[in-house]
Amino acid sequence: MSSIEVIGGEQLIGELKIQGSKNAALPVIAATILNKGISKLKNCPKICDVFHMIQILEELGCETSWEADTLIVNSSMAYITQVPEDAVRKMRSSILYLGAILGRFHEVTIAYPGGCSIGKRPINYHLDAIKKMNVSLEFLKQDESIIHCYTNRIIGNDIFLERPSVGATQNIILTAVLAEGVTRIYNAAREPEVIEVCDYLIEAGARIYGKGTAFLEIVGVESLHDVDFWLSSDRIVAGTYMAAIAATGGRAVFTKAPIKHLDSTIRILREVGCRIEVAEDRIKISNKQRPLPIQVLKTQPYPGFPTDMQSQLMSILCLADGESTIIEDIFESRYQNVDDLRKMGADITVEDDMMKAKIFGVSKLHGARVKAHDLRGGAALVIAGLAAEGLTIIDEADSIERGYEDICGDLSLLGARIRYCSEKVRELYCAQ
Ligand code: EPU
Repeated sequence: MSSIEVIGGEQLIGELKIQGSKNAALPVIAATILNKGISKLKNCPKICDVFHMIQILEELGCETSWEADTLIVNSSMAYITQVPEDAVRKMRSSILYLGAILGRFHEVTIAYPGGCSIGKRPINYHLDAIKKMNVSLEFLKQDESIIHCYTNRIIGNDIFLERPSVGATQNIILTAVLAEGVTRIYNAAREPEVIEVCDYLIEAGARIYGKGTAFLEIVGVESLHDVDFWLSSDRIVAGTYMAAIAATGGRAVFTKAPIKHLDSTIRILREVGCRIEVAEDRIKISNKQRPLPIQVLKTQPYPGFPTDMQSQLMSILCLADGESTIIEDIFESRYQNVDDLRKMGADITVEDDMMKAKIFGVSKLHGARVKAHDLRGGAALVIAGLAAEGLTIIDEADSIERGYEDICGDLSLLGARIRYCSEKVRELYCAQ
């Protein structure tokens, strides 16, 4: 397990390019199974979750290679319909192979992903939807941990989602593109990462209408073809680095930023006092003052404020000049950082079944030894560490590497004193 050490107190200044998007790349990588040919995915981030999805592609019989930041997938030879059990346990997003493999082979065996550190995360919407598309389901183990889905014909249908689930919307689309007839999704997720998988599939020959709206119509086609596709930049990485400026002061320019996907983040960061200018794909951000509190902020599906930015915002609000409230309305366990932030001197209370957090801003945080419980929570502790006085060590930093190509390298470019530390260095520090 790796750790990150941060010596806080530096103002961040400089320019940084934003990496390709994790949550756009993952469903598109799964979708490459469907075109039975070559997909070239440009601007693909080199992060652990992507490497993991590639490993699964190879186990399914695909060939993959890299040319600079372009991932090339040849899925013509794929023949395995069973997703390795440990793969799904290691990474929840491998559930996106459910729709892709089913769509191509009319059969898939996949482990039930179960909960994860941010919440229960069921897949009932995914399974209910495919059942409506003439797919049968059986559990292969007594504990119902392995699902076998099979059919001789996938037939389009009308699907109503109880909640606009990102993963369920993507899985239904993947199941539907090569199906017979028309699939309509009502209350579909509108996240940019859903649009992205639609764009990839449309470029490969799929017929999908209504992308970016809550009503999607997918008209099944016979086959897809080779495609070159440019993945968007990561809106959450951009938001994380902007939050680092908000918490520490300083000024930065972020290039290749996905401006149109950052509306709610930019709005909230302006509310905490940041000065932000945007032009084409550049964001200029500065903050000269102590952050301002936010009366109430609730996480919501897109275009609302993203749950994936909630922890980073909390780190800023720990230092705000007043009291703020956050309501986490998407995942039930996304306040695991609270104890770590308290170790750093933050004053936070959590109430209402862990959904509501009250943050009473303090004038400073101090360094501490903390733990990254999940990807975004870990990134948020990096932000708190950058703003704190003294040394912070963030243990189990591997979870941060799942989504950030090089968080230490990036923030160092802005002048932060941050680096990955080995077990030896870590123990040395702890002995002092
Ligand atoms: N839900 C159900 N049943 C389902 C599916 C979802 O009850 O069958 C519930 C979930 O438990 C949750 C809500 O619906 O309470 C929304 O979950 P959703 O399905 O939208 O989330 P996801 O597809 O599992 C993706 C991102 C997450 C991001 C969420 C919300 C990827 C790979 N993951 O997850 O990203 O937080 O959408 O925007 O795209 C991250 O990047 O750190 C991350 C966790």
